[in-house]
Amino acid sequence: MGMFMRDSDLCKQKELEKLGMACKQWGFFQAVNHGIPLSLTERMKAIVKEFIQLPLEEKLNYKIEEFEGYGQAFVASDDQILDWADIMYLTTLPQEERKMNFWPTKPVDFRETVDQYALEIQKLGNTFLCLLSEYAGLKADCFIKKYEKMTQLMRLNYYPPCPRPDLALGLSPHSDGYALTVLLQDDETVGLQICKDSEWIPVQPIPGALVVNIGDMLEVMSNGIYKSIEHRAITNMDRDRISIAMFYGPARETEVGPAPELIDELHPCQYRRFILADYMQNFLSGKLEGKKNIEFAKIKS
Ligand code: OGA
Ligand code: NI
Repeated sequence: MGMFMRDSDLCKQKELEKLGMACKQWGFFQAVNHGIPLSLTERMKAIVKEFIQLPLEEKLNYKIEEFEGYGQAFVASDDQILDWADIMYLTTLPQEERKMNFWPTKPVDFRETVDQYALEIQKLGNTFLCLLSEYAGLKADCFIKKYEKMTQLMRLNYYPPCPRPDLALGLSPHSDGYALTVLLQDDETVGLQICKDSEWIPVQPIPGALVVNIGDMLEVMSNGIYKSIEHRAITNMDRDRISIAMFYGPARETEVGPAPELIDELHPCQYRRFILADYMQNFLSGKLEGKKNIEFAKIKS
């Protein structure tokens, strides 16, 4: 898996090359030296664990409604095998779209910590979107300028120990919907796997690192130069695991489509234009099944 370090400007070109290659070949990389204080990432993990340990009645004050809150996600039918996970979805940016009634007040610093983390992840997300825009041969701000108002959605994942890891997945295979995902995962327990050449490859946790991956929207905006990658989470028999996914991309009301600069005779347009909210509606109301959601955007030849 590709590694990206922001050590010095001197090696920026080399690092950009590594980053771009990792994103093209893997669609995933681990970011180290990302500049977000370890104290903040550690506190993020701690508040998730503290929230999960609250009594169920307390957590049900934030019960999931319309894709926001605590509970189980991607339930499309009564007879489907559910993923072995409790999740919590919160819109974190733009600030005015936060639905504060879903934001826990316990632990007491939950809201403040998430707020700080959301802003840090936005900065990092903008940095990566600019670098990936440059690597694709575009002006640096191509993936963000048109989308000045950006959306950030957080998903907390809690995977309890599972008596039969062979029978249940923590999270079914899927690609992520927004442009970029930044995942903070447990240091101790391996669970995330990515699909490469039809094989499932575990992503070994690196303490302090953030796992970054390409989502469907960046695949669309880059006209397929970058591809979202299928991934899943497995369960463990005797250990639980948490992860915190931050999905980042254009605002919900934005019309999204491939950057016109990337389309020519040799590179025909592969995706149609659509409103992001319609894509997300389709995404969140179905089951998770690999990369099926991107069919919504593909132009069939
Ligand atoms: C996700 C995701 C993986 C993990 O939340 O979209 O892929 O390891 N999570 O929890
Ligand atoms: Ni995912």
